[in-house]
Amino acid sequence: MGPDGPGAGARGVARRGARVHVRPVTADDADAWLALRGALWPGSAGDHAAEIEAYFADPPDTSACLVAETSAHGIVGFAEVGVRSHAEECRSSPVGYLEGIYVKPAHRTAGVGRALVLAGERWARGAGCTEMASDRELANEGSGAFHEALGFEESGRIVCYRKAIPGVASAPGVGSR
Ligand SMILES: CC(C)(COP(=O)(O)OP(=O)(O)OC[C@H]1O[C@@H](n2cnc3c(N)ncnc32)[C@H](O)[C@@H]1OP(=O)(O)O)[C@@H](O)C(=O)NCCC(=O)NCCS
Repeated sequence: MGPDGPGAGARGVARRGARVHVRPVTADDADAWLALRGALWPGSAGDHAAEIEAYFADPPDTSACLVAETSAHGIVGFAEVGVRSHAEECRSSPVGYLEGIYVKPAHRTAGVGRALVLAGERWARGAGCTEMASDRELANEGSGAFHEALGFEESGRIVCYRKAIPGVASAPGVGSR
């Protein structure tokens, strides 16, 4: 979704009095976005820089990156949202999906994550969705509490598997995020 798409310009007052502004990412934010993606997905097999470049070269309709900024500290967090055809236990299609969310440690528990999720929900509503889905790693209990505080209900637990396909040379660095 381009810079003027749904989710733009959401303002809120985070706890501790910090005013947080959530808006779609712009090309000027590329370095900040790269740093935040690296913090959230340090072991990612994906090439963050190439994906960010591709996003600005041809802004997608089916996903968006939203950034949260404060006047005093600049960009303090981001969320990536998208639409998926289906999600576990959801009753509608397409479904809005919270693909990733990260708030810098010094700015946590002040309402920034909530502001990002609410802006993501507005984006998903604009993309025709009536439900929002997400996931987390089992060990990330803080993320579980965060999701529940935001109104998400647990809809299932999944075990992931992988195997190399016999007889095929494995690509370097391939894995899951
Ligand atoms: C999860 C994360 C995005 C939350 O961001 P945040 O800005 O601290 O969240 P908020 O301050 O908006 O909190 C919203 C609600 O969630 C609750 N919450 C947030 N983090 C929590 C935690 N670790 N434990 C318990 N509750 C938590 C808050 O108490 C708040 O509830 P309330 O509004 O009812 O008081 C942030 O901790 C983070 O970036 N973590 C590392 C990355 C990560 O785990 N991402 C999620 C991957 S699925």
